[in-house]
Amino acid sequence: MDETSFNWSLKDDIREYWGRRSETFDLSPGHEIFNDQERAGWHALFRRHLGEGEGRPVLDLASGTGVISHLLHDLGFQVTGLDFSDAMLARARAKAGQRKAAIHFIAGDAEQTLEADATYDAVVTRHLVWTLVNPTDAFAEWFRVLKPGGTLLIVDADTGAPRTLKAHVLRSAARLLAKLTPALPRPGMDMETHNRILKQVYFSDGARADRIADLLRAAGFQDVTIDRDLSTIHRGQWRNMPLRQQLERASQDRYAIRARKP
Ligand SMILES: C[S@@+](CC[C@H](N)C(=O)[O-])C[C@H]1O[C@@H](n2cnc3c(N)ncnc32)[C@H](O)[C@@H]1O
Repeated sequence: MDETSFNWSLKDDIREYWGRRSETFDLSPGHEIFNDQERAGWHALFRRHLGEGEGRPVLDLASGTGVISHLLHDLGFQVTGLDFSDAMLARARAKAGQRKAAIHFIAGDAEQTLEADATYDAVVTRHLVWTLVNPTDAFAEWFRVLKPGGTLLIVDADTGAPRTLKAHVLRSAARLLAKLTPALPRPGMDMETHNRILKQVYFSDGARADRIADLLRAAGFQDVTIDRDLSTIHRGQWRNMPLRQQLERASQDRYAIRARKP
């Protein structure tokens, strides 16, 4: 089946795109983790918002190759990773097997997981929300699968137009450097498909944290908090990134949003 087929949907396009990117996903800093500084930053973020795992069940939505699943597993959570790309799931299962990490990976749509009501103490997701087709349905679904008192943690970025002067300056510097220096090798990146998808998703002009927070409150979540203290993670990532990529990412609003089901 391809995009010329009858009934081809935006979600099919997104799934195929990530299926192709699965081959090289773990080669990129910002996806897989390449130093202990970054790993420590992630552990601290998850401890801050979720506490220690202590065997509690957590759902890693859109788990990809399982980068976030492994971090949660390190903290003692009982982790289920869910993704709708079979190619990503195959890589996630192989990596967990190599690392002897007991993480359960399942196929599913994050907007309609088919998991039972009130199953998880925590739901975590990185770099999914920007690409959601229907965030209202998705957030209602995540509310449903959380236990009362459970926590949702979203990690994402607003990669839309810069919204502050500092962000404008950083973005301009990154773009200038891009003109003056040879193109970066970006394994597996297909900008044409990426941009076509981005134009059609709900947050096509950028996944703004305040808009996501409003939608979470409308879905029934409480104590919605936006945490932008991700500097240890970012400094760790920058060690493995060229300057222009550091500047580009520093021009984006990168955040974690925590919300609680009452
Ligand atoms: C940018 S990758 C992020 C992977 C992982 N969360 C991480 O941060 O390393 C996006 C992932 O979301 C998955 N995805 C996108 N939309 C999805 C959906 N509606 N349901 C399930 N998986 C989805 C893709 O297959 C892909 O693995």
